[in-house]
Amino acid sequence: MSSRIIPVPPFDYVVFGATGDLTKRKLIPALYHRFKDGQFDEQSRIIGVSRTKWDDEQFKQIARDCIAEFVEPEYQDKKTIERFASIFTYVPNDVSDEAHWADLSSKLREDPRIVRAFYLAVAPDLFGPICEYLAKKEYYRRDARVVIEKPLGHDLASSKQINDEVTRIFREDQVYRIDHYLGKETVQNLLALRFANMLFEPIWNSAHIDHIQVTVAESVGAGTRGYYDESGALRDMIQNHMLQLLCLVAMEPPASDDANALRDEKLKVLRSLKPITGDAVSKFTVRGQYRGVSSETASVKGYQDELPPEKKGSKTETFVALKAEIENWRWAGVPFYFRTGKRMASRVSEIVIQFRAIPHSMFDHAEGAPRANKLIIRLQPDEGVKLLMMIKDPGPGGMRLREVPLNLSFAQTFQERTPEAYERLLLDVIRGNQTLFMRRDELEAAWMWVDPIRQAWDASSDSPQPYVAGTWGPTGSIALIERDGRTWHEEDEG
Ligand code: BG6
Repeated sequence: MSSRIIPVPPFDYVVFGATGDLTKRKLIPALYHRFKDGQFDEQSRIIGVSRTKWDDEQFKQIARDCIAEFVEPEYQDKKTIERFASIFTYVPNDVSDEAHWADLSSKLREDPRIVRAFYLAVAPDLFGPICEYLAKKEYYRRDARVVIEKPLGHDLASSKQINDEVTRIFREDQVYRIDHYLGKETVQNLLALRFANMLFEPIWNSAHIDHIQVTVAESVGAGTRGYYDESGALRDMIQNHMLQLLCLVAMEPPASDDANALRDEKLKVLRSLKPITGDAVSKFTVRGQYRGVSSETASVKGYQDELPPEKKGSKTETFVALKAEIENWRWAGVPFYFRTGKRMASRVSEIVIQFRAIPHSMFDHAEGAPRANKLIIRLQPDEGVKLLMMIKDPGPGGMRLREVPLNLSFAQTFQERTPEAYERLLLDVIRGNQTLFMRRDELEAAWMWVDPIRQAWDASSDSPQPYVAGTWGPTGSIALIERDGRTWHEEDEG
């Protein structure tokens, strides 16, 4: 594979929340990799802004420390790290205190060829005040960009409020709403798989597909993250990442890779989702919460045991399974089963396209009945694509049918390091490419679909179903799909 490094124009990236976890774990390492690959150089600046009273040198040191901690040792190169650290500069500022707003003008360059981007790696209640500060202090420019990230609200109303506050200053085409799943190589590969091959698109519909499963399972827990208990799996994973995956799997082919051409198609999917409301909520959704487990060799805490005392008894779901339907010509009658959870049996994200069974089998006397084909798109780990097909078992012994995978493993095919999602996204902001960012109407359509589920759960006296940490979720999730005569895909099937 040939990789092409296309340099971006020089930029001033202003990062609000510069001392936070996102900046340290994701943004700095991602920018380092892009710098190391030569996509930008010392003509650019990374300007940290935060309440902490640091100076330039302390922020540079943070950059060095993050690279030492979060970049694989083989990519740590002393000279490059020093060159990279030289573009870091810092301004202490508390945006909640207007009387003492700091002056960024000595850091921001006026040259119009230098792209100006503001990354708000802070809690959403600060988005409004920061945008106001940028406008009042005249740091706003018509071509400046603002980057924001979830939680973009906790329901439709709060999401509208956040968007109103940001778009009071920035136009929609200046706003970059990150869903980091869209920056994952394998997620973008969904577009290539569907729209750069002739093979699948003609059969990508209800005539040939029986159902689709989307699983995003994590083995880590959640209880020590304060934010999670306010959010739960529905808001944390389904409303954004998983609905975005659904859009890419289910949308019509866009006419071009223009940002709005693609986002128009995604929006149509979200707007065609059949609402799950009232009684349907208990029928088509399952929520769970993990319980602890201990054995002679190890013990894992349950969600409740990880929470601080004041949160004990929380009904926050750490697992969701649900059955969705898309009401349009292509997908009518094809269920989409989702499941996501913390502390599950393993970390795996995959999309399984289950094709229909063949209409008639000529192999009545064969050993082993033909099984319906499956296309398994593995997003992480062990990224790749597998097509489960029937073949004749080689050799004598009559006609014996066997299912084997046609296996494309990215690790075996490509030797290069797979870039992290943020590497692509951070520089797409500088390029001015919004294709992999959520538009306001998409975000709101997603909330509109999720809100009634949340409301029904909140109104119900039921608690999330318990599941043992390290398993595939509560029994209700198995029942949800087995009721329809189907089963969740298991790894050892292919
Ligand atoms: C985040 C969620 O958006 O995505 C986390 O807030 C979750 O709870 C994470 O763990 C999963 O991302 P990834 O890239 O590890 O699959």
